[in-house]
Amino acid sequence: MVNKSRIYLSPPHMSGNEQKYINEAFETNWIAPLGPNVDAFEKELAEYVGSKGAAAVSSGTAAIHLALRLLDVKKGDRVFCSSLTFIASANPILYQEAEPVFIDSEPDTWNMSPLALERALEEAKCEGKLPKAVIVVNLYGQSAKMDEILAICNQYNVPVVEDAAESLGSTYKGKKSGTFGKFGIYSFNGNKIITTSGGGMLVSDDLEALQKARFLATQARDPAPHYQHSQIGYNYRMSNILAGIGRAQLEVLDERVKARRAIFDRYVQALGDIDGIHFMPELEGTMSNRWLTTLTIDQQKLDVTPMDIINALAEENIEARPVWKPLHLQPVFEGIKYYPHHENWSVSEELFENGICLPSGSNMTVEEQNRVIDVFLKAIQR
Ligand SMILES: Cc1ncc(COP(=O)(O)O)c(C=O)c1O
Repeated sequence: MVNKSRIYLSPPHMSGNEQKYINEAFETNWIAPLGPNVDAFEKELAEYVGSKGAAAVSSGTAAIHLALRLLDVKKGDRVFCSSLTFIASANPILYQEAEPVFIDSEPDTWNMSPLALERALEEAKCEGKLPKAVIVVNLYGQSAKMDEILAICNQYNVPVVEDAAESLGSTYKGKKSGTFGKFGIYSFNGNKIITTSGGGMLVSDDLEALQKARFLATQARDPAPHYQHSQIGYNYRMSNILAGIGRAQLEVLDERVKARRAIFDRYVQALGDIDGIHFMPELEGTMSNRWLTTLTIDQQKLDVTPMDIINALAEENIEARPVWKPLHLQPVFEGIKYYPHHENWSVSEELFENGICLPSGSNMTVEEQNRVIDVFLKAIQR
C-alpha cells in the first residue's frame, strides 16, 4: 500500500454551521430524542422537498419500517421491492414477517422496471394476493420512472413507498424525488449527500399518518399520565443534537448536489469517450443529485473486470465499489420470487456484473479526482 491519503467513496462533508445548532441544543439542555431542532428540521425538510409533513427518525431503515407499519403490512403479506438496492430497502419487510418479491431494473434509470412490475402485479392479482406496498428505490440519486410506476400501482390500487435514501435533492419532472408515493423516505447516514451521522426522515402528505409514525417511533405510548401501551412501537426518533446537524446540512444541500454533479461531469470528460465505458444515464426530465458516479464497463472490449479496476484503486488507497448486488442474488433471500425486466433479460444482474461506483464526495478536490482518473486509466491500460 502506497502512503497516499485515502480517498473515500462518499465521506461526510460538514458546512461549519452544524456546531451552532449543536451548541444551541447544549445551551438549552435539549439533549433528547425530541426538541426544537427536531421540529425545525422536520419543517425545513418538508418545505424543501414540497411534502406536507415529515417525521425525523433514527435511520432511513426505520423510516421504511414505519411506512410499512402505517400501511398495515403484517405477517404473511406481500411487499414488492426493487432488487438492485442496499438490503436496508427490504429488511423492514422481513421485520414485519411479510414476504418480499423482487422486481428487476430497466436500463434507462437502472431502477424498477415498469414491465417487470406489471407482470408481477398481474400474476399476484391472479393468485389473489396483491402486495400491500411497492418499495421503489431511486438508485445513486436517479429517480425511477415514477409516472409509469405510479400508473401501474394505481391501476392495482397498491400504495408506493419511495426509497429516496440516495436521491435527496434530485428531481423528477420538476418535483423533488421522494414525494411521489404515499410515503417517501430519506437517509442521513454518514455516506449520504447530507448527513446527521445517522438518521432518516419519513415524508408524506398524510399528516395524520405522520402523527401515527411519531407515536409508533416513541414506543407507542398512549396518552395517559402512567405508561400505557396498547400497541407495540419502537424507539426510532431522531435526537435533537443530530437534528441540529441536519438543519445545517440542509442549508447546503443544493451546493452539495452541484458539487456531486460537477464531479460526475469531470469523470465523464476524462473517461466518457472511451469505447467500452458507459456512465449511468440520467432520464430526460429528471435531475439526479449524482450521489455516486457509477459506470459500467464492457469487459471484453477493455479486457478487465470491475474488480481489477477496484483493486487497482485500492492499491492506491482509493475506495471504489461494485454496484449493489441485487437482493434476489443474496444468500439470505434464496428462493424468493423475482421478476426480471424481460423473461430472458435480467438488467440488475448485468449492472452488478459490470458496474463500478467511483469516489464522489462533495469535498473531493480536483487533484484527488485526477488521482482516481489516473489510476483508472492505468488499470484499463490507457
Ligand atoms: C437505497 C437505500 N435504502 C435505505 C438505506 C437505509 O438508510 P439508513 O442507513 O439510514 O438506515 C440506504 C442507505 O443506507 C440506502 O442506500
